[in-house]
Amino acid sequence: MPDTRPRRTFAVISHPDAGKSTLTEALALHARVITEAGAVHGKGDRRATVSDWMAMEKARGISITSAALQFVYRDHVVNLVDTPGHSDFSEDTYRVLSAVDSAVMLVDAGKGLEPQTLKLFKVCALRGIPVITVINKWDRPGLSALELMDMIQQQINLRPTPLTWPVGEAGDFRGVLDRRTGEFVKYTRTAGGATRAPEQRLGPHEVGEQDASVWEDAVEEHELLTLDDADHDQQRFLAGETTPVMFASAIQNFGVAQLLDLLLDLAPAPGTAAGVDGSLRGVDDDFSAFVFKVQSGMNTAHRDRLAYARVVSGTFERGMVVTHAATGRPFATKFAQAVFGRETTSVESAEPGDIIGFVNAQALRVGDTVYQGDAIEYPPVPSFAPEHFVTASAGDIGRYKQFRRGIEQLDQEGVVQVLRSDLRGDQNPVLAAVGPMQFEVVEDRMTHEFNAPIRFSRLDYQVARVTDAAGAEALAGKRGVEVLQRSDGTRLALFVDQWRAMATARDNPDVMLEALPASA
Ligand code: G4P
Repeated sequence: MPDTRPRRTFAVISHPDAGKSTLTEALALHARVITEAGAVHGKGDRRATVSDWMAMEKARGISITSAALQFVYRDHVVNLVDTPGHSDFSEDTYRVLSAVDSAVMLVDAGKGLEPQTLKLFKVCALRGIPVITVINKWDRPGLSALELMDMIQQQINLRPTPLTWPVGEAGDFRGVLDRRTGEFVKYTRTAGGATRAPEQRLGPHEVGEQDASVWEDAVEEHELLTLDDADHDQQRFLAGETTPVMFASAIQNFGVAQLLDLLLDLAPAPGTAAGVDGSLRGVDDDFSAFVFKVQSGMNTAHRDRLAYARVVSGTFERGMVVTHAATGRPFATKFAQAVFGRETTSVESAEPGDIIGFVNAQALRVGDTVYQGDAIEYPPVPSFAPEHFVTASAGDIGRYKQFRRGIEQLDQEGVVQVLRSDLRGDQNPVLAAVGPMQFEVVEDRMTHEFNAPIRFSRLDYQVARVTDAAGAEALAGKRGVEVLQRSDGTRLALFVDQWRAMATARDNPDVMLEALPASA
């Protein structure tokens, strides 16, 4: 039976330490976590809490959050797609954001907008993903609410439209003024935030003596916000012009139910998607999905490979035979998993917005489309301009075969971009990355998973531009530039710096030199 409950699919974007894990736990605590094909995990009436989820994660020794957390709230199915947590920026994060319909930007009240948040926000803006802002850690001293609103307006050029406004400054969190109803949502501290924080809703005349003066301040600022055109407007939010804002303390569970309500009420549901040729696919049309992440090595005993796909249209049913758009070949989905890592339970069905994992789908690469019925191919997941380059060679020449296999695998997964040229030969591919930590991941996985030690040698390039065959020919032998080819066929001209790239473009007006989207 297809599960026809409405879907919301979103990701949390934040800088490390802003409280993403805490918020994720709190969200799961408020909702019923689905761990297996549509079933609710938990014993009897006891609702599943995140601790079950964490225990599973521990038992398996893998990050279950590597794909998505699925839960039910107010009879909606909510998919929280995880963004990789490492502090360095890498391409994975971009790709994950291609699988969501909205994003929650989590901001530490004491720190404001931090670098990684800004980068991730840019990706959302580029992809037209509406953003809800949550100011977290209001229970701790921090910046003023108005200062934070200014920052959002100045730094990311989104008009903040607060839906709640704090009563009491950061560190003196009394609750929030619900700007839609005018009520005082009183914050009650719970021991360690272990249970749902009781939220008491009071009318303006029920505000107690002890909160009267901070309530007055909040009302005054709320009225100023209204005069300042800072009220929520659904159209402008969906158009990416405004961001609804709310104030929370994830660790105390305060604001978490409000956030879930917001997601259900305001965030967009999965909608019609366009293929590369402009053809449209509605959610009720035949099944289609695209792969946004490929992961392997979660189980070292046997080499497994999971291709995570987001369902775009139709109902997915296990065992379906779908067409792989890139090759035109049929692909049997005998082994499709629910979103929970390597658990052998299969997913029986999935709906638009849901995330499914195809097991050992060797042919599937990031960006690939699979479908039933009329042919459709979704636009490729954007690749960003690499800024770090190394040449790689086998650390142990006796293990060259493993080295080659490993590089090929990591290339397919999109862990790094692998560039080659006739000049350099196959033995020393160039690896290109957006963030330098991608090389560490390569080194670690080559050593431990493929048993093929790897050596890097840094290249001086910093800038990449897309060119074509004619451009490659025209630039051959020129100083300060080298053209290499990615495995998807794209040719990249690498330059030592911006200045050289600009000078080359100026001196060779007929040569194609296109910039890739920058990550910063
Ligand atoms: P991340 O996943 O975004 O990196 O952040 P995480 O949830 O791990 O939170 C980072 C730190 O911030 C943690 O403290 C966490 O307890 C704290 N934190 C998260 N939300 C809130 C909040 O609303 N209020 C306050 N006051 N703190 C919050 P830690 O000391 O690093 O870890 P722990 O000792 O608490 O586990």
